Amino acid sequence: MVHIKNPQEIELMRESAQLVSKTLAEVAKILKPGITTLSLDKMIGDFIKDHGGAPSFLNYHGYPFNSCISVNDVVVHGFPNGNELKVGDIVSVDIGVYKNGFHGDHAYTFLIGKPTDDILQLVKITKESLYKGIEKAIEGNRIGDIAFAIQEHTEKKHGYGVVRELVGHGLGRQLHEDPQVPNYGKRGSGPKLKSGLVLAIEPMINLGKKEVYTDKDGWTVRTADGKPSVHFEHDVCIRKGKADVLSDYAPIEAAEKNNENLFACP
Ligand code: MF3
Ligand code: CO
Repeated sequence: MVHIKNPQEIELMRESAQLVSKTLAEVAKILKPGITTLSLDKMIGDFIKDHGGAPSFLNYHGYPFNSCISVNDVVVHGFPNGNELKVGDIVSVDIGVYKNGFHGDHAYTFLIGKPTDDILQLVKITKESLYKGIEKAIEGNRIGDIAFAIQEHTEKKHGYGVVRELVGHGLGRQLHEDPQVPNYGKRGSGPKLKSGLVLAIEPMINLGKKEVYTDKDGWTVRTADGKPSVHFEHDVCIRKGKADVLSDYAPIEAAEKNNENLFACP
């Protein structure tokens, strides 16, 4: 079911989304080679609770951690673990916050140390594709307009693999609401976008082929060819003429620039 939110509900959703942004900024401050993703996950859970929220992902369909931390060939839903991050790692951090009855759910991909040119390009294009999708997230357009914009910029222009099995989604009192938001599709197709609809738009883009598989743990999604994958996600409220982006990359990007261990994508 599609839920249209009123202005008061949108302000509560902005609070949840921005607590995710602040948490991701804390991650950006402490990321460095040698740190384990499990220690990041613990910090993430503590920070969310200290700020009056609860981690949305913990126990969601049995998911066993506060966050998803997906390194290199892991596309999404990576389990935090005791492995130390190292120079050259591509680290997608996806966080959900439940506060005041509403979820925020967004993600950012960080680069530990200087990346190769092909990785830097993948990160840049994936992030750009998110904003191309957001440009189409306006009243009167359709889901397919968002989907087409993302696919056009990543697959058609740059030959990257657009993951088909996982999609963005409506967001609100539930972490996953209708409609689904694929990162591939036809212009002018799918459900019509109404003002007050909140979408989590989340391109998952592979350097190589689009195919993925799920590990034996039942969660970790990896690229079939073992090449890296990148994931960015924003929470977006549909409005007339211009979308209202409820989540905020500004604090994350500021912390990323200040952290000498991270390579900030231009
Ligand atoms: N952003 C992801 C999604 O929308 C996060 C969900 S992880 C889960 O699917 F553990 F909560 F499932
Ligand atoms: Co999501």
